[in-house]
Amino acid sequence: MRRIGSDPKSELGGADLTVLLGSGLGGACERFPVVRSLEFEQIPGLTPPSVSGHRGEFRLCSINDRRCLFIVGRKHYYERADKEIRAMVRFAAALGTGELVLTSAAGSVDSRLSPGELVVVEDIMDFQDRDYRLTRPAEPAGRSSVVPRPLRGGNSPLLCLDPSLRSRIEKAAIKAGIALKRGVLACVSGPAYETPAEVRALQEIGASLVTMSAAPEVFFANQAGLRVAALCLVTNLATGLAQSAPSHKSVLEIGKRSSRALGDLIVHLVRGPDVTAAPDG
Ligand code: HPA
Repeated sequence: MRRIGSDPKSELGGADLTVLLGSGLGGACERFPVVRSLEFEQIPGLTPPSVSGHRGEFRLCSINDRRCLFIVGRKHYYERADKEIRAMVRFAAALGTGELVLTSAAGSVDSRLSPGELVVVEDIMDFQDRDYRLTRPAEPAGRSSVVPRPLRGGNSPLLCLDPSLRSRIEKAAIKAGIALKRGVLACVSGPAYETPAEVRALQEIGASLVTMSAAPEVFFANQAGLRVAALCLVTNLATGLAQSAPSHKSVLEIGKRSSRALGDLIVHLVRGPDVTAAPDG
């Protein structure tokens, strides 16, 4: 398979926005004309995702007179893929849009959030193994000891979601007629779903949703200087809150059913704040 040359912008540059489509949500970009696409394995440092429902493709699409770069599918922390997640985010940053919207399937731990609803993330609790927090690409030569540093504040705030991008997403949702909710996202390692006791603990500490992705991408996006926002599709009630246990199959089914609404939101988001034309790709 052909690998890309040294200038990724010549292949996929020029997008107004980058959107990562998570578990089962790849259908959100199906209706948009494709300008160009590259599979993960054509990009240095990336290999295809191993989980079903994740295609592993960068796809530049045109949406009316705008361009949106979709990352269709992702690698997860539980695939031992933090270096690849970093490579994927840095590749997106090198393409120059400056903004990344992450989407993830998530289980609800909050009775106000039901399957099929879209939720914009206000803040993150990072319960993944967090090896990626040890990475320090800007470390001066010759220093190898790990020095504790703040996640927030200072010159390189990490795990921060951009409030202005979030507010643009909320405005786009209103234009698309979507009742977008807000929530706090707990990011766990997976790949096993939580125990009922873990879900009760997440409720106690103020989480609204739980997912197995997002935190490393937010971390690396912050490191790369991208403005980042996170959206979740509630695909299930978390373990112990419904009659049946969560399953990847039903997560993918709900994702497929909700992709149309996510696509509508993206149409309005990529268009920017002031135009009010009909939501067609
Ligand atoms: N837990 C963790 N990750 C998930 C879930 C869940 O219930 N649903 C979709 N992704």
